Amino acid sequence: MIVNSWNEWDPLREVVVGSADNACFEPIEPGNRPTVRNAPAGSPFPTGPKPRAAIERANEELAGLAALLESRGITVRRPTPHDFAAPVRTPDFEVANQYCAVCPRDVMITIGHEIIEATMSRRARYFEFRPYRELVYEYWNADPDVVWTTAPKPSMDDGMYREEFWEWPLAERHRRMHSFEFCVSQDQVVFDAADISRFGRDLIVQESMTTNRTGISWLKRHLEPRGFRVHPVHFPLDHFPSHIDCTFVPLRPGLVLTNPERPLLDRDARLFLDNDWQLVDAPQPTSGNDEMPEYCQSSKWLSMNVLSLSPTTVVCEEQEKPLQDLLSKLDFEVLTVPFRNVFEYGGSLHCATWDIHREGGQEDYFPTLTRP
Ligand code: ARG
Repeated sequence: MIVNSWNEWDPLREVVVGSADNACFEPIEPGNRPTVRNAPAGSPFPTGPKPRAAIERANEELAGLAALLESRGITVRRPTPHDFAAPVRTPDFEVANQYCAVCPRDVMITIGHEIIEATMSRRARYFEFRPYRELVYEYWNADPDVVWTTAPKPSMDDGMYREEFWEWPLAERHRRMHSFEFCVSQDQVVFDAADISRFGRDLIVQESMTTNRTGISWLKRHLEPRGFRVHPVHFPLDHFPSHIDCTFVPLRPGLVLTNPERPLLDRDARLFLDNDWQLVDAPQPTSGNDEMPEYCQSSKWLSMNVLSLSPTTVVCEEQEKPLQDLLSKLDFEVLTVPFRNVFEYGGSLHCATWDIHREGGQEDYFPTLTRP
């Protein structure tokens, strides 16, 4: 048995770590409006391949993570090279270049013995499964229990997006925060894998800019007959939600690290509170939003994007001392690596990995769902 992973915290045995090889700047497209941080409005975002030096800096930190994991006896695999500078043209859209293979978490998810390739939500990421296909074939050939599923690709034509979303002033976003309508419409199945968080039998999925309700319905219909329960969750104060792993981060049975600026909607929190889960707020990150790298599109809350090696050991970014202290107080062994040069490629430690094997099986952490 090679492919086996049911949650975000069981002891990690095999993992894929992303690579910045051939990475490009993310293009402007209907599902994404990247901006240069702290630059005057209208400043152009760079296009095409990232500079060689920036790629080398990111690759060095990714290699550092890989080395740390290997030193703990974990098998580390890497994506195969892909030409991200190549444009993509389908019958429905055209995009000047692709993005990168730094964040396998966004594209690929292991749920038990099944590997699912997400639909993705942005044009530049349409073919981002390709750098992982060799690995998927290898696992699929080696392990007869592996189920391999590719979710239905949406068209990503202009009609799939709601471009007016990008123009809403903050007050408008605030007014609409409970409608959970973002830059993708509800007409097609759309989800990124990183909007899902795994809790054994239960999967928590965030409605976001990168996952719509139709995507969650697909996940429900696909996974519930296989013994899972899929729960949509909402963080109304996150006006640009994308990927749940800087917002709601389970660390071990009974404990979730939460984002103090993005509380879970009360009705969604009930599931956790009724089942004696503790929601513990992360401390303020060491960098403010304005101090994040200039091409980084993520928030300061990448601080929370930790990678669990087990229910007692967690990897944290080197500079995030307040979070490290909190985790130590919560009885975790805290390992650290520098990772800030990876931030402009879409994420931090959790994003840059994809679990292939964690020990353990499918457990029920929410007993009130079966015995009220
Ligand atoms: N949207 C998140 C934030 O800025 C970043 C999520 C990164 N996660 C990922 N899997 N790429 O807070």
